[in-house]
Amino acid sequence: MAQNSQKLIAKLLILLLALAIIISLAEAKKLKKTKMSLYIQDYSTGPNSTVAAIAGIAGKHWTATQFGTLYITDDLITKTADPNSAQIGRSQGMYVTSGLDGRTLHVSISVVFTGKKYAGSTLELQGAYKHFEHNSEVSVVSGTGKFRFARGYATFETYSWNTTTGHAILRWNITVLHYTKMY
Ligand SMILES: *[C@@H]1O[C@H](CO)[C@@H](O)[C@H](O)[C@H]1NC(C)=O
Ligand SMILES: *[C@@H]1O[C@H](CO)[C@@H](O)[C@H](O)[C@H]1NC(C)=O
Ligand SMILES: *[C@@H]1O[C@H](CO)[C@@H](O)[C@H](O)[C@H]1NC(C)=O
Repeated sequence: MAQNSQKLIAKLLILLLALAIIISLAEAKKLKKTKMSLYIQDYSTGPNSTVAAIAGIAGKHWTATQFGTLYITDDLITKTADPNSAQIGRSQGMYVTSGLDGRTLHVSISVVFTGKKYAGSTLELQGAYKHFEHNSEVSVVSGTGKFRFARGYATFETYSWNTTTGHAILRWNITVLHYTKMY
């Protein structure tokens, strides 16, 4: 009798263990939604510019409204609009004026995280940025590190712009789905 109940307990324990493994595997595959607001410190004039037109159509002015102009950028990303607030990472990549009417930029940007929370992870932003429209959206197409298999979207807004200094602060609200555990 005692032996039988011991066997039963052992069987129950094995069953519980198997259940725990199944549940934790399912848990690892769960999608998690992460939202963040990033502040991009962009300097478009002077010796310390963080954005530059590097190519364009010969004979045309290389501006953001001229079809074919290619920009390269490396902007600091901060936690709040204050340029001296905590550093979250950098936005590195390119924009190209892809609309014949000059109203759309094709964006291909890596958000390279260096701040405590996501250091070493990246997100890839790609899409059509309509720079004359309020809160234009681009896709988040992938990620690395904590953001492996990430997908989502980002809204781009101009938070402030000082035309004297060429210092613009952009706000990108990013919403991504990614897995709760790295795999
Ligand atoms: C550019 O950066 C250098 C090095 O950080 C700094 O000494 C200089 O004052 C900056 N110039 C401008 C115009 O901001
Ligand atoms: C971005 O997020 C901030 C809060 O962090 C919010 O105030 C703002 O309205 C959002 N912008 C857009 C375009 O959703
Ligand atoms: C632009 O920046 C300059 C220099 O920092 C400052 O004096 C001026 O008040 C700023 N303008 C606006 C509209 O914030």
